[in-house]
Amino acid sequence: MKALILVGGFGTRLRPLTLSVPKPLVDFANKPMILHQIEALKAIGVTEVVLAINYQPEVMLNFLKEFEKKLDIKITCSQETEPLGTAGPLALARDKLIDGSGEPFFVLNSDVISEYPLKEMIDFHKGHGGEASIMVTKVDEPSKYGVVVMEETTGKVEKFVEKPKIFVGNKINAGIYLLKPSVLDRIELRPTSIEKEVFPKIAAENKLYAMVLPGFWMDVGQPKDYITGLRLYLDSLRKKSSAELAAGSHIMGNVLVDESAVIEDGCLIGPDVAIGPGCIIESGVRLSRCTIMRGVRIKKHACISSSIIGWHSTVGRWARLENMTILGEDVHLGDEVYSNGGVVLPHKEIKSSILKPEIVM
Ligand code: GDD
Ligand code: MG
Repeated sequence: MKALILVGGFGTRLRPLTLSVPKPLVDFANKPMILHQIEALKAIGVTEVVLAINYQPEVMLNFLKEFEKKLDIKITCSQETEPLGTAGPLALARDKLIDGSGEPFFVLNSDVISEYPLKEMIDFHKGHGGEASIMVTKVDEPSKYGVVVMEETTGKVEKFVEKPKIFVGNKINAGIYLLKPSVLDRIELRPTSIEKEVFPKIAAENKLYAMVLPGFWMDVGQPKDYITGLRLYLDSLRKKSSAELAAGSHIMGNVLVDESAVIEDGCLIGPDVAIGPGCIIESGVRLSRCTIMRGVRIKKHACISSSIIGWHSTVGRWARLENMTILGEDVHLGDEVYSNGGVVLPHKEIKSSILKPEIVM
């Protein structure tokens, strides 16, 4: 079975992290977002993943070579010369996706995190006999997603409306699809949107079916949702394999710590924290609801909440970071600096406090 992951887009909403790597390679819970998906695909028997790329393909492929071997899965690239949207890339990768077996293939948005119930999706797809299956989930704020109106009992989609201006429903497209090869006959090779141009048509022919996704879901393509997504992910990890989470008197709630990270004495860590490889958390540090990426040093008595600290940055002694502060890669924050929602671009040195949410260039 094959799968295509939509990897394009510039990830502007996740800057400054995406100034260093393409969005799918931004770490989430200590590994690049896209690895969560590739592992889930591998687990249900997908043998080849096609990455639909329009931006920095070398970076992506170099990185994934290592995992191709480790996970024993073929990873190939389908590169656009111009952004083809969310449907055009399927037409471009047509020959890679069709192998004559008539089997359906998966398509995933690269920035969604869930328990990926892909096995259940295959069963659902076989059961309804339609042309396409999509996963849906309920949210409070549906207007920033694709909204699906469906028949509860059968899952048949009556209407698909991308980013509706007026309320149509609260079940939204989760960005995980299983498509019959015939869907490719509906897509022309040009910039086009699967949400606006393809799904509404399949729905009008009564051949689009939606399955309500069991478990949590989050599009982690923007900082606030990324932080919420980590909480949901760690909650789910607690239920499934709590041994992977950190334990001890210095840990509060769900905390993920890479085995190569060092946490000195007198810290209080959690809830909802991820600490990546090679990090050093010096004594007396307080961390909650935050992500500390690979190679970061947090100096003595710093206090960080609701923030993301990019790769190889340092945070000074007695510093206080809160309210969606995001440090890009290799940022160095001085002692006693306070940041209230500062968004700091890569390779910066910050010596004075950031008192209100703003971008520091
Ligand atoms: N290859 C390629 N080329 N990929 C693209 C392009 C492109 O031109 N444009 C966007 N993508 C990829 C993005 O990288 C992402 O993985 C996916 O397509 C969806 O794009 P987003 O920019 O993240 O869209 P969204 O979050 O506003 O909305 C989409 O996701 C929602 C769920 O998170 C839609 O599919 C909504 O219907 C859905 O509810
Ligand atoms: Mg998105």
